[in-house]
Amino acid sequence: VRERSDAVRCALVTDDVVGPLLAARVETSMRAAGFDPLTVWVPAGESSKSWAEAGRLLEAFSEAELGRDSLVVALGGGVVGDLVGFAAATYLRGVPVVQVPTTLLAQVDSAIGGKTAVDLPRGKNLAGAFWHPLLVLADTGCLDTLPEREWRSGLAEVAKSAALAGASAFAALESDAEALMGRGLEAVSAAVLMAAGFKATVVSGDAYEAADRESLNYGHTLAHALERELGYGSVSHGAAVADGVRFATRLAVALGVSTPEWAARQEALLDALGLARTEGACDPGAMLDAMRSDKKARAGRVRFVLSSAPGAWAVGPVEESVLADELARWCEREGDER
Ligand SMILES: NC(=O)c1ccc[n+]([C@@H]2O[C@H](COP(=O)([O-])OP(=O)(O)OC[C@H]3O[C@@H](n4cnc5c(N)ncnc54)[C@H](O)[C@@H]3O)[C@@H](O)[C@H]2O)c1
Repeated sequence: VRERSDAVRCALVTDDVVGPLLAARVETSMRAAGFDPLTVWVPAGESSKSWAEAGRLLEAFSEAELGRDSLVVALGGGVVGDLVGFAAATYLRGVPVVQVPTTLLAQVDSAIGGKTAVDLPRGKNLAGAFWHPLLVLADTGCLDTLPEREWRSGLAEVAKSAALAGASAFAALESDAEALMGRGLEAVSAAVLMAAGFKATVVSGDAYEAADRESLNYGHTLAHALERELGYGSVSHGAAVADGVRFATRLAVALGVSTPEWAARQEALLDALGLARTEGACDPGAMLDAMRSDKKARAGRVRFVLSSAPGAWAVGPVEESVLADELARWCEREGDER
């Protein structure tokens, strides 16, 4: 961080799960590099991505008299990253933020790309800003303590990225799947480098989500509908994304844009990463309604990212009749037997 910033005063923000594990070490290391951090803990969990919590952070920054030349460090998962990034974007109209992601999902996805946000009562991420970090410092050594559910959540994004990144990334993940399940150091480093690198490349070409960045929503159309239907938190985001990728592969075959072989390889990778299809009620009509009201739908038309081969994708609206048929098959669990 010191190589990138002359700041002295800074805020180190973490949550009350990550704090006891890592805050003291980060603080010591920052002091050794000449920073004077004010450490702030927020409660762990999505409920901290709130307007109220962002306000408390802004007040803490101002009471500590942080200036434009100060620095804010976000130490934690995607919740801390999004919340702290948002506070950094708005404090004094923007102070630099360093993201130190401590979940797999944050290392491969949320810490990169500059999207920051808090939730509003009517939905997730409804207030936010694009605020690109000065630096993202992802240390895979801090992932050991991550609960299994969070680990799998990150793996779903890794699988998604590999499908989009291309043939060699996908093949590497296929051979590393077992090692990744066991959190083997080399496999984890390779996967984080691949997925973080892929996201960084995509967002640097499209910093404000006008074009290519939409590819990153692969699997997310169904995922968001599922989370909404089953209730946020009752299904993990990663499990929902894994289901979303499965659905998109089947839809792509039904539309004739992909082959059954490519679809089967993607589903097999998800199986190998322990991302089995989620259980639970499934109502095709309700899912379609949820997709129509997704903030990424345009003029009520549901859009999908579809992959035709490793590294090849296209995005566009899908005819509702095709979608309705495929959702009916999905809810009947047709095709799960493969
Ligand atoms: N900005 C983006 O582009 C983007 C992209 C994807 C997701 N997100 C957001 O990210 C959030 C989800 O992030 P997440 O999955 O990291 O969840 P999270 O931040 O809630 O972390 C999950 C849990 O793991 C704990 N934890 C974090 N690091 C740990 C560690 N090293 N050891 C043990 N426990 C640890 C946390 O305290 C929390 O309880 C959502 O709010 C989502 O909207 C943002």
